[in-house]
Formats: sequence, structure tokens, C-alpha cells
Amino acid sequence: MEVIIKQDAEAASLLGAKLVASVIRKNPSSVLGLATGSTPLKLYKNLIEFHKKEGLDFSSCTTFNLDEYVGLSPDHPSSYHYFMNENLFRHINVPQKQVHIPDGQTQDVPLHCLEYETKMRQAGGVDLQILGIGTDGHIGFNEPSSSLSSRTRIKTLTEKTLTDNASFFKSGETMPHHVLTMGIGTIMEAKSCLLLAFGEKKADIVAQMVEGPITSMVPASALQWHRSATVIVDEAASTKLKRLEYYRWVYQSKPEWQRFE
Ligand code: GLP
Repeated sequence: MEVIIKQDAEAASLLGAKLVASVIRKNPSSVLGLATGSTPLKLYKNLIEFHKKEGLDFSSCTTFNLDEYVGLSPDHPSSYHYFMNENLFRHINVPQKQVHIPDGQTQDVPLHCLEYETKMRQAGGVDLQILGIGTDGHIGFNEPSSSLSSRTRIKTLTEKTLTDNASFFKSGETMPHHVLTMGIGTIMEAKSCLLLAFGEKKADIVAQMVEGPITSMVPASALQWHRSATVIVDEAASTKLKRLEYYRWVYQSKPEWQRFE
């Protein structure tokens, strides 16, 4: 696992966006795994800017989102369909037919989840999976105790996640307790993963993910087992890492050919 520490969320998001852009430039038909939440917002803003100013071309890309709330229609303002349209898709040139997000209104959850996995496989698998991390260690919506080999399926959110994500819903609105999410096994099949984490409130869980034991109680710790996982954090989220100076040194000494800045 490569850990990169940047001064703030702006610098970290810009670096993350450069990594995504370098993947797309190398392979214009890249399959991107996309995340929601507040964390990737700045990264998406940078990608939109690269598209508008530098012509970063998404026309041959295919995308698969990690998750969606059960019961929300695509035009519900708190749905991840809506989030992705507003914050990325309507600003870039990825064709709608190449965009995939789990359908929170499906009438047959097991079949829909199976088909989602099949579509990912048929697309050649995810080249780069973008991830955030929940304060309880979830990636996608794989809450603590999720099987480390899980596939796309229905999950029940923890109280913690419901509280953390309440700000994405109108006050008084009932939040869905169920979600559809790629599994940890699904995420682990991506050829590379890029996880971003910002702010003091993520510092504990980032340290557990990077330096703690691999355990289903911290689902993101499964990434220690991933062959190519990059974690970009800001200073505030890095403070609990024991080997912080080593990670900084590794990044400073990175050979030129490995850099994407
Ligand atoms: C949400 C999403 C995750 C996201 C995480 C962190 O519930 N399902 O994909 O990474 O929680 O959210 P935030 O980025 O807002 O801190």
C-alpha cells in the first residue's frame, strides 16, 4: 500500500485527479470505479476542469459506481445517481450508456446485483477504483463485519453511518437503512485502487486501515492485501500513522518514471 500525504484536501484531490487522468490518458477505454460522499468532490471538480481545459476525454470510458440507497429513485436529490450526475457526469463527455450505478429501486435485488457483477466482468473489470472511507472503516457501504470476499449485495447501514451521512438528506426526511453495494471481494478485483481521506475525524480509521490488522471489523484494511492500492490523505488525516516519516520519505524518493504529478 502506498501512502501519500499532502498538505490539505485541495492538494490531495489534485494529485488524485492527476492519477485518474494518467490512467485515462494511457488507456482511453478505461473502466473507472466511482465513489460518492464528500471526499471525492474536489477530485471530480479537478477532472471536470481537465476535461474542459485540457480535453481529457471520457467518451470511451465506462464507469461503475460503488453503491446506491435502496428505495431512492435516480432523480431523488439524496440518491447517488443524482449525486453523480450533478457532480461529474453532466459536466464531462462519458456517454450515459457507459455509466453504471446500482438500481436502488430494483424489484429483484439478488438478480440485479448478479447482473451488476456480470456487466463489470464483461467490461473487462475495473481498472481504477476510487474510494473514500467511512469513520467506521467502511468502503463502498461494506460496514464492519462484512465478508472480505463479499460481492455486490444488499447491506444494512450502521447507526454511525446513518448519523455521518444524515447531512446528505433533508432534515426530517427518513434515510434508507438499506443499500446496494459492491462487495469487498468486488473492490479487491479492481486492477488498482485509489482511496482518499481528509480531516481529523478520519485520522484514527486511516491508521487502523493502513497499520492495523486486516480484519472485517475495519473493511478498508482489506486493501493491505491489494496488489496496487494508493492512499492519499491530507495532514489532518495522517496524524495517527506510526510510520508517517517513512511514507513521506518513500514518496520523496519515488523514481521519476513512477510519478504522475
Ligand atoms: C459513504 C459512501 C462511501 C464513502 C463514505 C465516506 O457512506 N458510501 O463510499 O467513502 O461514506 O463519506 P465521506 O466522504 O462523506 O466522508
